[in-house]
Amino acid sequence: MSTVVISGAQWGDEGKGKIVDYLAQQADTVVRFQGGSNAGHTVTVGGEEYKLRLLPSGILYKGTTCVIGNGVVVDPQCLLEEIDSMQARGVDTSGIRVSNRAHVVMPWHKLIDELNETQRGSNKIGTTKRGIGPCYIDKADRIGIRVCDLIDREDFAAKVHSVLAVKNSLLQNVYNHAPLDADEIIREYESYADRIRPFVCDTITLLNEQIDAGKKILFEGAQATMLDIDYGTYPYVTSSHPISGGVGIGAGVAPKKIDTVVGVVKAYCTRVGEGPFPTEQLNDIGDKLRTAGHEFGTVTGRPRRTGWLDACVVKYAGTLSGTDYMAVTRLDILDDFDEIKMCTAYRVNGKVLNEIPASLKILAQVEPVYETFAGWKTDISKIRRYEDLPLNARRYLERMAQVTGIALGIVSVGPNRDQTIVLKNIF
Ligand code: GDP
Ligand code: IMO
Ligand code: MG
Repeated sequence: MSTVVISGAQWGDEGKGKIVDYLAQQADTVVRFQGGSNAGHTVTVGGEEYKLRLLPSGILYKGTTCVIGNGVVVDPQCLLEEIDSMQARGVDTSGIRVSNRAHVVMPWHKLIDELNETQRGSNKIGTTKRGIGPCYIDKADRIGIRVCDLIDREDFAAKVHSVLAVKNSLLQNVYNHAPLDADEIIREYESYADRIRPFVCDTITLLNEQIDAGKKILFEGAQATMLDIDYGTYPYVTSSHPISGGVGIGAGVAPKKIDTVVGVVKAYCTRVGEGPFPTEQLNDIGDKLRTAGHEFGTVTGRPRRTGWLDACVVKYAGTLSGTDYMAVTRLDILDDFDEIKMCTAYRVNGKVLNEIPASLKILAQVEPVYETFAGWKTDISKIRRYEDLPLNARRYLERMAQVTGIALGIVSVGPNRDQTIVLKNIF
């Protein structure tokens, strides 16, 4: 198998970075295909923590090509900060490639993201305020600025002047905010352009040539299924397609060229930001999950909402992405629980549902049907073989596979590379 998609099966922060870094040992190329610096992917190697936002989680291997695909929205300031911090830590950054078709996050995107959230008041989405939504809006509105424009001095200045005229009118007349200065933005972004230019190329050609040559490619999803703009808990979602289908659009790789899909599933569930979360535990259990799991956002530092594993959501993610294998992460966080629950069905007004409701009103009425499992009360962080896991842990995992219909591929028992149990060789 030479092309593998890694996609989050819940509401994000499942541990995609850890799984991508683990699998990247064998990969030639790792590709981001959607989202932007709203992602926060943590990779831990030899006790050192790396927090990645735009760079693919294959960056820690010398010689790996790391592609930022056309479907990503690129904040050049953030990208350069990441590159600088990697270089300062001795990481090889020569494999980075940035799509000439990717859209650029501009200062007005970040400002409007923030102003929109303030204006929404108690209806806020709880975005990361990285300008992601407003940048995708401009893409769809056909007034976006792409990386190929950014690196063309003349074009870039002209585009900033024409787009900013529209944005300043909006800022002043709708948001009652001071206008932004075009020349200042042009100067700032020209300095980014000069540094980003050497990384820019046609990543569509690059990736398709690599696939034809039999290279091993990992596509790294950011966010997750329940934050997908079509399939998630709309409007409490992000503005892109984290499901495996996002690769077709966001990397220019046809669906028939994808061999394997891995869904990353946290052994319990978390969510940051607003929106429905049927298995949320607003009680001591939720607090214990948050404390045991250090569940605070990588990008914003916000405490994450916590709850039991929702197998209905994981099954839905499996259907949408065609998931072949699950990579279950953070099983070790459940080490100290006397009992563990898993939601295996949704009930509304006494009736079991066969689908995830589209309507938030109905989703709010959902009663999760739980199965209860005895905990294992053992430190599993040093276990490296599936058969050595406590019986109760295996029972929990096997029920997860049964309810979702997705085979177990990987079980992660700690943040480090070696804290990984492999049931199925993915490549
Ligand atoms: P991502 O956004 O999906 O990449 O996930 P994040 O990096 O935001 O959050 C996952 C957190 O869990 C990170 O701090 C990882 O280092 C950590 N992690 C990943 N897998 C495991 C695991 O199996 N056990 C533990 N204890 N931590 C893990
Ligand atoms: P990774 O890749 C968890 C959430 C935000 C908010 C909603 C919309 O680390 O799993 P946005 O800024 O995208 O417009 O915010 O999506 N969100 C994430 N939650 N993990 C992420 O990324 C997220 N990226 C966005 O909290 O609810
Ligand atoms: Mg994250």
